[in-house]
Formats: sequence, C-alpha cells, structure tokens
Amino acid sequence: MSTANNTWRPATQLVHGGTTRSHHGETSEAIFLTQGFVYETSEAAEARFKGETDGFIYARYGSPTNDMFERRMCLLEGAEDARATASGMAAVSAAILCQLKAGDHIVAARALFGSCRWVVETLAPSYGIECTLVDGRFIENWEKAIRPNTKVFFLESPTNPTLEVVDIAAVAKLADAAGAKLVVDNVFATPLLQKPLELGAHVVVYSATKHIDGQGRCLGGVILSSKDWIDEHLHDYFRHTGPALSPFNAWTLLKGIETLPLRVRQQSENAAKVADFLAEQSQVARVIYPGRSDHPQADIIAKQMKGGSTLVCFEMKGGKKAAFALQNALDIVKISNNLGDSKSLITHPATTTHKNLNEEARAELGISDGTVRLSAGIEDSADLIEDFARALKAVSA
Ligand SMILES: Cc1ncc(COP(=O)(O)O)c(C=O)c1O
Repeated sequence: MSTANNTWRPATQLVHGGTTRSHHGETSEAIFLTQGFVYETSEAAEARFKGETDGFIYARYGSPTNDMFERRMCLLEGAEDARATASGMAAVSAAILCQLKAGDHIVAARALFGSCRWVVETLAPSYGIECTLVDGRFIENWEKAIRPNTKVFFLESPTNPTLEVVDIAAVAKLADAAGAKLVVDNVFATPLLQKPLELGAHVVVYSATKHIDGQGRCLGGVILSSKDWIDEHLHDYFRHTGPALSPFNAWTLLKGIETLPLRVRQQSENAAKVADFLAEQSQVARVIYPGRSDHPQADIIAKQMKGGSTLVCFEMKGGKKAAFALQNALDIVKISNNLGDSKSLITHPATTTHKNLNEEARAELGISDGTVRLSAGIEDSADLIEDFARALKAVSA
C-alpha cells in the first residue's frame, strides 16, 4: 500500500508521503538492503526488463527504500519524478552532464560551492563543453552570455557563503527563450523556503547531506524534474554511471525529512536572532542575512523565498585573526565546514570551503579574510547569543 496524497501540506507529506508498507504493516519505513530482485518465472523477468510490468530490477537502477525517499521528495518539491544519489555532488554532476555533449555550452553563476564550480569550470571543458561564468545577480549578464549552443544554465541561490541571490524566475525565462534548461542547486534555501520548479526552473538538485538529513549522519543527494526530462536525459545516464544512493542512507534521509519543517523553522529563527545580535556588535563590520531588510537583494528575496535562511554570513573587523579568535572562543557553536545540521556550525570560508579560489576570485564573491559563515542549529537561541557575546568579548580582550 502506497501512501501519497497531493493535497496534504508539507509537514504531513514529510511524515507520510511516499510510504510503501510491506505485508508486515511496519510503522517505520523498512530498509530493503538488497542488490537484486527475484522473479517468479523467466517470462516475468523478461516482461520486467521489457518495461511491460512494474517492479525493481537491480538496486543501481532503483530500490524500494530509495523509491520511498524519491516519492516523498517529489511530493514536497512538486516534481513529477526524482532520482536519489550517493551525495550532493553526484546529483549536481549527473544533472548537468547527463544533458550535455561536446560542443554544448553552459552558463553558470560564478558564486557556486567549490566542487560545483569545478564541475562546470574544469571538468565540463575537459570533455569539450564550453562554460561561461557570470555574476548571476544581474540578469543582463545571463542574457549576454547566451550562445546558439547554450544548453544549460546553472545556479545556486542563496549562494555559499555570502548569501547572494539570483532571480530564478528571470533566469528561467531566459533559459526557455534560449531553448536551454535551468538547473538550480537549492541546498541553502531548502524545499521549504524556496521552490525553484514553481519559479520556472527545469531541474532542482539537493545535497541531502545538509538539511534533509539534518543530523550530520550520511551523504546523499537528489535530482528532481519532470518525468519527460528524467526519461529523456537522466534515466540511462543514471543507470549506467551508477551514482545510486545506498538504501541504508535513503532510510536515514527518510527519517531526517520527517522533522525537516521543525528543524528549518527553529534554525531560521535562530539564524535571524543571531544575525540581528551580530549586526549590533562593534567588532562586526557587516551582516548578510536573507531575512533582514538590509540584505542588498531584499526585493528578490521577498519575491521568491518564503523565509530567511538557516545561514548567516558576517564579516569580522580585524580580518583572519579576529575571525579565528572568534571561532576558537565559541563553545556551543562548533567549527565545521558542514551546514544544515541541528548543531550550530561555523566556518571561515577563505581558509576552508573556498580556499581553492585565488584571492581575486574570492574578492569577486565578497569573501574577505574576515568573512565567517554560521549554520544555525536547533539549540535555544538565547544560548547561541550568549555564546557569541562571550566569544566576542574574548576577541576584544
Ligand atoms: C551548495 C552546495 N551544493 C552541493 C554540495 C555538495 O554536497 P555533498 O557534500 O553532499 O556532495 C554542497 C556541500 O556542501 C553545497 O553546499
């Protein structure tokens, strides 16, 4: 029996959506740790391979626990179909490369997570796929970069770590006019705060490692789109290159997304409170938070996001020395380059996540030596603010 109801609200979908119970009627979703599937007869195997009957063939293609995770993500995202992948990067690279061949052209926002930027800037050109990186904040840059062979637009919004946003609906419109597909990495926003498909994007990708697991346990990813796009571009690529998610991790992610709305709500509230606190501190040069009215692109955020973010970016006066001193003095907030966790995590992008970019490229993205990124957890906001207050005192001492 499959549980799926398109009229349920997200919090209900995330607990019940896509569940398929075995004949035991288990409450919690079962983990099907199997590589293969048994057929009653040779004729049944032949029919399954011909696509004449429904059912699983081999776990690299699909399997029951992964299927539940994919169905639940589809219900949340409003997508027709999905494929779960072993990591966020498996999702990003498959979503981009499955629809390109030598001679095609990608236009991507330059403000991307480091590995995503490597895929479009280094890997794709090594296979003869051209790439143009643009400052994605300005729509005219996307328009100017279009060539007759442009097939894919790629962006993340808000961006890592400086929380810039891109007008997704405007880029999607340009992609449609150019006959290209827009792929959006929606990791920072989560499916609760932003729905790229509703804004006109063609494909959405997630690192499920972040908020979807939300408890720092396993890697995972997911690609969501129309059934037509998946059938035409991803289906064969996925089967034959093998980025499939482990069923155990699919189960962990299914458990994770049951509490996604509760966590994202608390994390966003905490992020907003810490951002407001930091903005008042004399050691902090500036705070960037999508939920604040002083965000440089507050108008686009109001149009396309349902809330702020679980992340805050801020710049310490005193550069790297002050940023390191602050991080070292924090107690509850842990130093880690991961994000979306129920534990608050802080990182210094110039020496960690963005250390592979040269100084000029970092400056273009607004990452200075004093830039710090906080991923707010689900702790009590008063404890987080006390932790920052104490650490800032230690920096000044
Ligand atoms: C925006 C963004 N996209 C993709 C990824 C890659 O995800 P994963 O680490 O699950 O491969 C990350 C990881 O930090 C990310 O922040």
